[in-house]
Amino acid sequence: MTIYRGTVLDTPDDAAIGAVRLRAQTDAALVVDDEGRIAARGPFGDIVDGGAGGAEHEVIDLREGLVLPGFVDAHVHFPQVRVLGALGMPLLQWLRECALPEEARLESVDYARAVADEFVHGLVSAGTTTALVFGSHFAGAMNVFFERAAATGLRVAAGLVASDRGLPEPLLTTPDRFYEESMALGRRWHHVGRTRYAVTPRFSYSASEPMLEACAAVLKDLGGSLFTSHVNENVAEVAAVAELFAGSEHYVDTYDRHGLVGPATVLAHNVHATAPELTLLAAQGAAVAHCPSSNAALGSGLFPLRRHVEHGVRVALGSDVGAGTGFSMVKESLQAYLMQRLLGADGLPLTAPDLLHLATRSGAEALGLGDDVGDLTVGKQFDAVWIRPQHHQPLGIGLRHATSPEDALARTFTLAAPADIAGVWVGGERIHST
Ligand code: GUN
Ligand code: ZN
Repeated sequence: MTIYRGTVLDTPDDAAIGAVRLRAQTDAALVVDDEGRIAARGPFGDIVDGGAGGAEHEVIDLREGLVLPGFVDAHVHFPQVRVLGALGMPLLQWLRECALPEEARLESVDYARAVADEFVHGLVSAGTTTALVFGSHFAGAMNVFFERAAATGLRVAAGLVASDRGLPEPLLTTPDRFYEESMALGRRWHHVGRTRYAVTPRFSYSASEPMLEACAAVLKDLGGSLFTSHVNENVAEVAAVAELFAGSEHYVDTYDRHGLVGPATVLAHNVHATAPELTLLAAQGAAVAHCPSSNAALGSGLFPLRRHVEHGVRVALGSDVGAGTGFSMVKESLQAYLMQRLLGADGLPLTAPDLLHLATRSGAEALGLGDDVGDLTVGKQFDAVWIRPQHHQPLGIGLRHATSPEDALARTFTLAAPADIAGVWVGGERIHST
């Protein structure tokens, strides 16, 4: 057993976004067993006096700063680390000129391995402990990605990306080849350690009906995997998909008609969602990964969070590296807050507890891991982030002057950067320290 001592903030309740309450415990003790599970928690004095810990157990002193659940990134692209920061383009131009030429380079397994190392380092050092990772078009690249992710101890779901039209030729495959390669990857990696498989057509724009059928076949034959893709991100993209799928009612239907929309589905963006699409997503229990930095950087639009919540659609948060602006889920949360402010009366006012829920528990639930991670309740895995700012930096000053835990959390979402992340644990295993 190990005892972690500190100020612990999390959002275990399932209130809707907009009404999330914070659980805050100062000088708390989290007792973590050898399987990485939280065996007990309470006031440090009580835990030690009650014999649940104390002299015979190691105490890790995290009292300076805050302890939060590990962040969950519900949408982040492994092959795009090296193209972060290309500003000034809308989606389809950015894909053509920036992202896709880089993604073609991952045909080389050595290149992919180097990118995978950079990618997992980016996640871990930002405090992300769980991620739904948008993969590569190449099976060799996916193998090295899974190897690297497993070596760091991260919880990941990912899969080979499917496309058979509309992209540069080196990124295309056939439905048969996609099925075979996906099944081979899935048999090797699905439910191995902390890794799961995610069936991943890039978007309907680049997937024919037979390719979406092949996705459905992999989903069925590889029980328990996730499904992820993009939807309703950009007006030009939405118009192109409507032309390609004249028989579909709307963008979400291009997936749903193949049985690809359900509780294990996470669709990224959904900026330009229609009411029937929101109704359908809610009815099927699917989740949307909101990627506010990417939406701003590509000029995709202002995400209708209020309409999602009012329709009962589950929403999580994604960094969308590399169209987004980096790996920090703290920054992503702040960006979500800022964009809702810009929507005025149409926006959903977000509090710091809402942001914490979006960056942790919402993501865990979207990825089907809500019973294991997402908050620091007894019985869950100790996936945690220790934020300890430098004394003289604005966040260090801010935490000393915070008037409540909510205030401390708001200052953290405003000011914290990866450099403030002093420790990261997954399943009780420390995977990052500064
Ligand atoms: N739609 C299809 N591919 C992509 C991608 O790589 N990034 C974003 N933001 N949207 C996409
Ligand atoms: Zn994306």
